[in-house]
Amino acid sequence: MKRVLIATDKPFAAVATKKIGKVFKKAGYNVELLENYTSKAELLVAVKNAEALIVRSDIVDAEVLEAAPELKIVVRAGAGYDNIDLQTATKRGVVVMNTPGQNANAVAELAIGLAIYGIREMFSGKQGGELRGRTLGLHGFGFVARNVFRIARALGMKVIVYTRYSREAAAAIGLKVVHSLEELYAKSDVISIHVPAKGEHIRSVSCDVLKHVKDDCIIINTARKEVISEPDLIKAMSAKPGIKYLSDVAPDNIKAFEENLKGRYYFTPKKAGAQTAEANINAGVAAAEQIVDFFEHGDVGCKVN
Ligand code: 3PG
Repeated sequence: MKRVLIATDKPFAAVATKKIGKVFKKAGYNVELLENYTSKAELLVAVKNAEALIVRSDIVDAEVLEAAPELKIVVRAGAGYDNIDLQTATKRGVVVMNTPGQNANAVAELAIGLAIYGIREMFSGKQGGELRGRTLGLHGFGFVARNVFRIARALGMKVIVYTRYSREAAAAIGLKVVHSLEELYAKSDVISIHVPAKGEHIRSVSCDVLKHVKDDCIIINTARKEVISEPDLIKAMSAKPGIKYLSDVAPDNIKAFEENLKGRYYFTPKKAGAQTAEANINAGVAAAEQIVDFFEHGDVGCKVN
């Protein structure tokens, strides 16, 4: 009987956990749940006998992998796998997967929600604006950005995109692909960031692009804080008092925002993009099915290492 550990410091919705359980029950696997844990020590103990592990943004570093000698597969129920030490996993022969696209609509709806919140002056009562007719710039064109595009179009926004890897996919649906990040940031009223925290994307939102933004630009970040250079963002916001920044997860230097940029930022208290029952069901069940397919059929379709 295969042993699966679901370790989520931010638990799945109960309905999702039930559906995940059904997948494993059908396969005859044993499932253990470690939810709401508060220390790494708890994870290190729980992972000891696990052959498969499902996580969300939980940190799976070398210490966790070394504490799990039986581990064959880790599935990140979600998109970004920057929380997993891929190098150590590979060295130890552990397959790492994500569940691409499964929580994308939830994150996209949050991005649009933040855009509305921002353009309405944080519902402060101050006169705001409307999204209809404004230009939305998509920084990246993965699953989340494609959902943002669908919703933004229905709201009557003009949408442009900068992407290196999905230019044809974007052009094929009539989306205007701009030539550079600088051009995207210069032309957009609202910018929504959808690139992973890796490689050339790390701190790609630096003063080189921020110096081009419009005076009243709204920047939405539902990706990762690492894709933005915080000092450069603070500098840009100080130079142009109309810029707003709304993000899923607070930046490192939250004090600088509190002290100098009042009324021009919003940060979710805890990462909220994928915090819907639907996203939990989609990503969680996909993760469970991928684990069963891996053990029963050797399927490594969503492998990322
Ligand atoms: C993701 O990468 O899938 C999202 O950031 C959601 O992360 P979460 O599962 O920790 O909410």
